[in-house]
Amino acid sequence: MIEASQLYKSFAGVPAVRGVSFRVPEGGRLMLLGTSGSGKTTTLRMLNRLIDPDGGQVLFRGKDTRSLRPEILRRQMGYVMQQYGLFPHYTVAENIAIVPKLLHWDKLRIRRRSEDLLQKLGLSWESHAHQYPAQLSGGQQQRVGLARALAADPPVLLMDEPFGALDPVTRARIRQEFTGLDEFKGKTVVMVTHDIRDAFEMGDHIGIMDKGKLIQTGTPEELQQNPANDFVAAFLHGKGDAP
Ligand SMILES: Nc1ncnc2c1ncn2[C@@H]1O[C@H](COP(=O)(O)OP(=O)(O)OP(=O)(O)O)[C@@H](O)[C@H]1O
Ligand SMILES: [Mg+2]
Repeated sequence: MIEASQLYKSFAGVPAVRGVSFRVPEGGRLMLLGTSGSGKTTTLRMLNRLIDPDGGQVLFRGKDTRSLRPEILRRQMGYVMQQYGLFPHYTVAENIAIVPKLLHWDKLRIRRRSEDLLQKLGLSWESHAHQYPAQLSGGQQQRVGLARALAADPPVLLMDEPFGALDPVTRARIRQEFTGLDEFKGKTVVMVTHDIRDAFEMGDHIGIMDKGKLIQTGTPEELQQNPANDFVAAFLHGKGDAP
């Protein structure tokens, strides 16, 4: 469904992503793990054309994404940003409604959907719908970001550290609740995380990135049984950013 082929991206002449290729079939869930600065966010942003690659291409349902208008692409791909990415001058309700409004849903449908999603993510409509992002905790903003990405039921979810602002206890609970949502089931997912527990619980494939390259991709079992090198092995043993 999504195929990245030999993606390259540099910023001011410094390479950030160097020849990254992968394929995620419909309903597949690829988790990108890697050290800070290894090019994970840059890779994700090239999938929905938040940035365009210097080289290589992305195919979505077999079509080169350069031939698709970015706004059309983004309606198909819910995006959860690393730093919540909520619009500060929009309320929680307005943030969640962005894509449904673009799709001309009526008000009642938007309201029902938003209320339902917020409640499923542990936030009450009454307390939070009319608040602005700055009035919420980081973890609450993150959950609004998840609700926003799911709002219009896109077939694809791109998620950048979607649980990064949560403490370990809340994180495990939200991850479990989120993964269990009907709204999440069947989606094609590319997700960036530092947390190997996220990756093992949510992914069917894991890709390990280092210095702009995708070092190894495989099922969690394949990576554990046959790590390509010490870096991959260290990562899988939970050393995270240590190597
Ligand atoms: N807009 C930009 N302008 C200049 N340099 C950038 C830009 N975006 C990313 N970079 C650089 O590209 C490299 C990869 O960044 P990227 O954000 O993709 O890393 P990451 O793997 O997501 O890291 P983290 O885990 O810390 O979020 C870094 O060296 C970063 O400084
Ligand atoms: Mg990042």
